[in-house]
Amino acid sequence: MVSILITGASSGLGAALARAHARPGAVLHLGGRDAARLEAVAESCRVRGGEAFAETVDVVDRDAMAAWVERSERRRALDTVIANAGISAGTHGGDEGAGQVRAIFAVNVDGVVNTVMPAIAPMRSRRRGRIAIMSSLAGFRGFPGAPAYCASKALARVWGEGLRGQLAADGIAVSVVCPGFVDTPMTAVNPFRMPLLMDADRAAALIVRGLEHGRGRIAFPWPMHLLARLAGCLPSGMMDVLGRRMPRK
Ligand SMILES: NC(=O)c1ccc[n+]([C@@H]2O[C@H](COP(=O)([O-])OP(=O)(O)OC[C@H]3O[C@@H](n4cnc5c(N)ncnc54)[C@H](OP(=O)(O)O)[C@@H]3O)[C@@H](O)[C@H]2O)c1
Repeated sequence: MVSILITGASSGLGAALARAHARPGAVLHLGGRDAARLEAVAESCRVRGGEAFAETVDVVDRDAMAAWVERSERRRALDTVIANAGISAGTHGGDEGAGQVRAIFAVNVDGVVNTVMPAIAPMRSRRRGRIAIMSSLAGFRGFPGAPAYCASKALARVWGEGLRGQLAADGIAVSVVCPGFVDTPMTAVNPFRMPLLMDADRAAALIVRGLEHGRGRIAFPWPMHLLARLAGCLPSGMMDVLGRRMPRK
């Protein structure tokens, strides 16, 4: 039996990750806000032989998240927690104005903390567990098209990298996931060409494989990873020139 909790399982990558884990012997605790879409994903997991429990919960609600993680723990001790839920300016209705910047930080940063923190103590007591934090290749540099999104993903990545070292002695493996462009409702609204756009099921398969190997960073596709790392090293004068040509969300 394996027990896996996934936030943002009602759509895109989260739904693909739920399906990728669904098999006889798997217990899936799936969170999201859209009850109908979430239940449809849960049902598709049951069809694959997994047990799936859908929970309508907002990752920003700290108490509700703690209660859900605890309920899921009681149902079946959690082996893996995937903090996947996230928003971008595109899926949140326009450019990054003040309200939207706060909303992006609330979901992509507080939401990740609200997912991960309640899972640590029970995993620590068992000296076993796996935590995956969804970052992005956008988290290697602040791009002018999506400053708040990039910042939220940089925070998720750096926090996860530090946690990995901190929790290793407790038997908990932390992985940070940094995908490039994946074909999901989040990217469907992008009005620009996305290089090496990947299918969500293919991305989920790469993530599952990386988690199974206990990788600290699961970043793909490699050419985009390389470009993102290079962008992170560029002097700001050079980035200013490049940034003027980059698309906005
Ligand atoms: N697609 C890409 O190219 C790409 C690349 C790198 C990283 N990522 C990251 O991958 C993750 C999944 O993105 P996606 O592309 O699959 O986007 P998506 O299809 O828009 O899915 C986002 C998921 O997050 C959930 N969510 C959003 N706000 C929430 C909240 N406040 N509380 C609970 N759930 C919430 C949504 O639930 P409801 O729909 O039920 O509200 C949905 O299930 C995000 O963290 C994103 O930043 C995506």
